[in-house]
Amino acid sequence: MNWPENSSSFPDNLKDRFSGHNQKIWAIGGGKGGVGKSLVTANLSICLSLMGYRVISIDLDLGGANLHTCLGVPIPEKTLSDYLTKKERYLQDLVTPTPIPNLSIISGAQDDVGIANLKQMHKAKILAKMRELDADYVLLDLGAGTTFNTLDFFISADQGILTALPEPTSIENTYRFIKSVYHRKLKMAEDLLEVGPLIDQAMNTRITNNSTPADLINRVIEINPHMGKKLQAEVNRLVPKLIINQVRTQADIDIGFSMKIICKKYFGINLDYAGYLEYDASVWQSVKKRRPLLMEFPNSSLVSNFDRIIHRLLNLN
Ligand SMILES: Nc1ncnc2c1ncn2[C@@H]1O[C@H](COP(=O)(O)OP(=O)(O)OP(=O)(O)O)[C@@H](O)[C@H]1O
Ligand SMILES: [Mg+2]
Repeated sequence: MNWPENSSSFPDNLKDRFSGHNQKIWAIGGGKGGVGKSLVTANLSICLSLMGYRVISIDLDLGGANLHTCLGVPIPEKTLSDYLTKKERYLQDLVTPTPIPNLSIISGAQDDVGIANLKQMHKAKILAKMRELDADYVLLDLGAGTTFNTLDFFISADQGILTALPEPTSIENTYRFIKSVYHRKLKMAEDLLEVGPLIDQAMNTRITNNSTPADLINRVIEINPHMGKKLQAEVNRLVPKLIINQVRTQADIDIGFSMKIICKKYFGINLDYAGYLEYDASVWQSVKKRRPLLMEFPNSSLVSNFDRIIHRLLNLN
């Protein structure tokens, strides 16, 4: 694997870093629990930090925080609980370094907060303050579910990444998640562009139960081309990346391509298949040892899987 050891081979990135405008937020989600979101968040964070980027991983699986285990660190002393209860005033003060150079973590709440209960005010504050964190990449481990809060973190990120398993329940949940994201995004665009009445009008005419969200937007374009195009542009910005985890066969790998086609056909959404991760016993072995996978098993096939995915996510291919 050809990972540069430091950032000196990224002059453009360095330039951006010093201008302070290039921080990117990636949110890792997926409808179902146990599909590998924390594994993906932890190891993408490690890949980026090995490439010389300064990374902060945030555990937003409030109530079920375990990202620290995937990164091989003990529960940090300060967690989001301290921020939510105002014990800590600044998000930056929760940033805890890990033994991996360039990589820090903000740990999730350890009490029973639950992301569904996160107040609008707290969510807005975390979203705004995340942008001020001193890092090149901020990765969010979103936890399971499709609550509005989870969807909002996913939508607000610069890049949403979905993890799914190659099995029917997980695939269904992923579609449900994508559909919820789409509806939430339409709702936000509706408020932003004040096209609510147009959407209502489009819903009331011609749109049948079999219509896709793309049909709805086309109908809005017919009613008001200017606003419809704006709405379309807003929704087109949504191109989630998909990772299929725990693949065992070629058929499992191919599920990602089918999901991409189905998303386009039924939701009008461009899903980008970023790659797959093989099922590998080294995952639970590293979890058991509380050591980060990529560091503990540098020769596992998952290392090349992650290498390929990170290159695709960074558009380096
Ligand atoms: N590629 C893989 N090969 C083998 N085991 C895996 C793989 N990916 C994940 N696992 C196993 O699945 C379990 C769940 O993974 P992980 O905790 O990353 O999922 P999650 O989506 O974050 O779950 P939750 O929704 O509960 O937070 C891990 O403990 C790990 O043992
Ligand atoms: Mg998790």
